[in-house]
Amino acid sequence: MGAKKLLVVLGSTGAQGGSVAEYALKHLSDKYAVRGLTRDTTKPAAQRLASLGAEMVAANFDDEVSVAKALAGANLIFGITNFWDQYSLEIEVRQGLLIAKVASELPHLEHFIYSSLPDATQLAGGRYQNVLPYNAKTNIRDGMKKLYPQLWEKTTTLFISFYFENWLKYSAAFGPEKQPDGSYALIQPYKDTAAVSAVSSTDTGLIAAEIFRGGAKYFNMSVSLVARHITVGQMLKLWGEILNVKTEFKEVTPAEFQAHLEGKGFPAPLANATAELCQVMTLEDRYIEAEGILRGRELLGPDVPIQSWEEYVKKEDWSSFLN
Ligand SMILES: NC(=O)c1ccc[n+]([C@@H]2O[C@H](COP(=O)([O-])OP(=O)(O)OC[C@H]3O[C@@H](n4cnc5c(N)ncnc54)[C@H](OP(=O)(O)O)[C@@H]3O)[C@@H](O)[C@H]2O)c1
Repeated sequence: MGAKKLLVVLGSTGAQGGSVAEYALKHLSDKYAVRGLTRDTTKPAAQRLASLGAEMVAANFDDEVSVAKALAGANLIFGITNFWDQYSLEIEVRQGLLIAKVASELPHLEHFIYSSLPDATQLAGGRYQNVLPYNAKTNIRDGMKKLYPQLWEKTTTLFISFYFENWLKYSAAFGPEKQPDGSYALIQPYKDTAAVSAVSSTDTGLIAAEIFRGGAKYFNMSVSLVARHITVGQMLKLWGEILNVKTEFKEVTPAEFQAHLEGKGFPAPLANATAELCQVMTLEDRYIEAEGILRGRELLGPDVPIQSWEEYVKKEDWSSFLN
């Protein structure tokens, strides 16, 4: 058997990177040695991956020398940037292009997966120009194509849809809110009949493994991952039934939603970006599964179980949220 390939996972302590690293460590350790990046190798998520066999290295996307050291020798890279770390399009773009620059100089790199998101400015007749995390990723893709064309030729962009986990992780924007009578209201700028394209971020590892397995077949392609579509009304109903709480859906206008977020302390540009993001997520097949984007669910096939919303809700720990 040949030597193992070195898979370097950025954002390895996070939702997507954590899933990719863990999947490779648990299921592909005969093929890949896994190196995970973090700014803090002592944090529990980093220690956990180390205990599973990952080499954890410290690197900061703002520091080219640390990124170059961390990516040295990589055959495969799972790359990601985190808009929500500093809520800044400019910083995310700078970091994304720094990572791409370093990756473009690696002599043994075979395949680069960049976790990205579609160009929201092109959707719905140009109605959504302010979805900052999407715009940042579009700028990074454009920069990669222009500045690092040889890297782009072996890049697959991966579009993971809205995480199921966002109801908890970003509950101020996306989760149901406790009402004075003890019930929960989900306040969003769309109808409860809208189907949000969503998936568990913990399934990122499944699709990343398929993309690396397919290799050149997926170069220069975009792949998305969405679980089975269900409406927000169905999501809320299931959630209430499983947790045994009373729920209600309240549709508000995008302007009302933005004001609602600003009332919770969101700066106006972020509240606006979030309001637009919520609307984009409900565009279904005109959005993350639009023509030309490969559907990860179909690439994986019916035998690979992507978690459903119901399965996710049943296994999640909601205690902090409910108390
Ligand atoms: N939420 C969603 O529904 C959704 C859906 C699709 C795409 N996305 C995109 O996913 C991205 C975030 O990914 P995630 O959810 O996996 O993140 P996450 O769980 O919040 O974790 C962030 C990861 O990025 C790393 N990181 C952040 N800044 C870094 C820096 N300066 N240097 C080195 N590492 C850094 C963190 O490492 P340490 O803290 O350990 O250093 C951590 O591993 C965002 O850009 C978002 O737009 C989100």
